Amino acid sequence: MSKLDKGSKIAVIGSGSMGAGIAQVAATAGHKVCLFDNHSEALDAASGKLTKIFNRLVEKERITRSEADSILARIEFCQNLEDLAGSDLIVEAIVEDLEAKRNLFSHLELIADDNTILATNTSSLSIAKIASACSKPHRVLGIHFFNPAPLMPLVEIIPAVQTSGDALVEARNLIDSWGKVTVIAKDTPGFIVNRVARPFYGEALRILEEGIADVPTIDWAVKELGGFRMGPFELMDYIGNDINYVVTETVLQEFFYDPRYRPSFTQKRMMEAGWLGRKTGKGYYDYSEGAVNPKPTEDKELGQKVLHRILVMLINEAADALYLNISTREGIELAMTRGVNYPKGLFQWADELGLENVLSQLETLQKLYAEDRYRPSVLLKKMVKEKKTFYSENLIEN
Ligand code: NAI
Repeated sequence: MSKLDKGSKIAVIGSGSMGAGIAQVAATAGHKVCLFDNHSEALDAASGKLTKIFNRLVEKERITRSEADSILARIEFCQNLEDLAGSDLIVEAIVEDLEAKRNLFSHLELIADDNTILATNTSSLSIAKIASACSKPHRVLGIHFFNPAPLMPLVEIIPAVQTSGDALVEARNLIDSWGKVTVIAKDTPGFIVNRVARPFYGEALRILEEGIADVPTIDWAVKELGGFRMGPFELMDYIGNDINYVVTETVLQEFFYDPRYRPSFTQKRMMEAGWLGRKTGKGYYDYSEGAVNPKPTEDKELGQKVLHRILVMLINEAADALYLNISTREGIELAMTRGVNYPKGLFQWADELGLENVLSQLETLQKLYAEDRYRPSVLLKKMVKEKKTFYSENLIEN
């Protein structure tokens, strides 16, 4: 396996939002980077975007002109896949399409050295399935950056069942050396963040559909009373209702149709209408110039009800992820605070609210709706029975 260090040559495939960002991070960390895309316009766009970003960093005096020039000079915009030969680490960030990724990985084996580590930035696909397109799957793993890659500290590192311990250690150490916060996640749908965060959107949509509160009120409750930077609807509009919907649908399918992950018709219709959010000028909010959006009902009692319903569902999902060893307690706390900026780790929050209280809210919802969506995690039930908290000693005995 390639020993990865400052002198390692990095290649990135796909120069879209993620690929360009990952290339920026690697070049800033001192690596020579080869950025490849099979659309030359995408490469031109990435080059223009990176130049603009570095000009802005110079203007803001975050780096000097000569630093910016040398970082940019380290990025080579490559037109042929063969240019990637000799790379020590190749990170794939092409479209989220399993066949396209498998096809690319099987081609990469013909070009890459035997010791090159191959990584995918997929958000939702199985790493094992991508690795199985290779004859040497032990050097394949997931390295999942968040958007925008240069700004978001979290990187989920996902070994497939085939990944060797060496490849995992080399890749993780390298990404750590780039100043990122890495957490190891099991190769399961949505890894940590995209799994644990599902109720942030799903429960908010459910509250809206039931008419308990409207869009601005739910966002207000989550921000003002919960301390989140963005409300669920603002965030869905920011991510794009198409992207957010597709991730939910993929997670649902991948979880063998567990109803907990069932998407919402409201969001599906928004997507079908083309009301995708900020990028189309209209989503849950109107982003056109001079638009006046409705104001929230600032009713504290209603706000707390909304916030707590979303929060207990998030805590339940995090508890289940911990119970099923998707990651460690620290890994899940870091993932949610550093990957999606939650104001607090969900386990810390659970302890503050009281696990008995969290469990009882979930049980009330489950009784009321008689839906599996609200089934409490076995971990929560065990912990309440054993009077444990997430931050007490001897966390759980499975
Ligand atoms: P994007 O659509 O902005 O960029 C994809 C790029 O890949 C395009 O420039 C396209 O020309 C190129 N491409 C497509 N097929 C190719 C091939 N066979 N060979 C070479 N280049 C090819 O997509 P984005 O958003 O950058 O996502 C890329 C990957 O990162 C996806 O797997 C996505 O799930 C994942 N991801 C996306 C995040 C996001 O917020 N956008 C966050 C984390 C992961």
